Amino acid sequence: MRKTMHKKLIVGNLKMNPVSPAEFGRYLDMLEKETKGKNFEKTEIVICPPAIYFRQFSERKFKNIKLGAQDVYWEYQGAYTGEISAGMVKANGAEYSIVGHSERRKYFGENEEIINSKLKAILRSGLKAILCVGESGEERKSNQTAPVLKKQLEKSLAGIGIGKAEYITIVYEPIWAVGTDKTPSSDEVLEAKIVIKKILTVLYSKKAVEKMKILYGGSVKSFCAGQVCVDPAMDGALIGRESLAPYEFIKIVKIVEEK
Ligand code: 13P
Repeated sequence: MRKTMHKKLIVGNLKMNPVSPAEFGRYLDMLEKETKGKNFEKTEIVICPPAIYFRQFSERKFKNIKLGAQDVYWEYQGAYTGEISAGMVKANGAEYSIVGHSERRKYFGENEEIINSKLKAILRSGLKAILCVGESGEERKSNQTAPVLKKQLEKSLAGIGIGKAEYITIVYEPIWAVGTDKTPSSDEVLEAKIVIKKILTVLYSKKAVEKMKILYGGSVKSFCAGQVCVDPAMDGALIGRESLAPYEFIKIVKIVEEK
């Protein structure tokens, strides 16, 4: 596969961390120290903290880091206790939202129908979407990776037209790698990327798919970043635990920059 034409995208998903504004403030201090005055020419960096910290993030006025949400609800407004809409997230400074993360599927029972509604809401609001797909360990063992990816992509993207394709980034997030110390080999990641591209090309077109980024997500560390996201054909990574350590997170960005 030829070298990506895209600026790489590195997304930090802080999940339900850190536990207090004071701790988040210290996190932002470290992030500022690692990024101040730096011009990451080849990489777009996005941090997705819990939404309750959006204002605190925005007050720092990072020039080289964008803000993203970890999830949104599909309705615009109304009596949906506890939920946050895509429009609210956008109005509070976010440019991106993750959708369909494996933890949302596993702990909150999100299926493709829900993910499809959320994805539509994200795009309607003018946010860019980061859509996660991936197979479980069992599915991989029984050679189900390609059919699982096909089902997830077809159902999640149902009714979303070709004009919106460029605002959607796909993350290949093998569930068996998330939160573990396992990472797939670069061949396995590349294989999944080829499968995803083929499915997207049938859904949209070759030209439209060229504008879409495909990232890897699952146990990315600086020592294995080269294996999973620096490959010339890959467009970047979605990073969990390691994004909580700004030094390590920016080390991954630098590996990508130096490539
Ligand atoms: P880890 O990097 O902690 O495995 O998490 C990956 C992930 O879920 C990214 O959203």
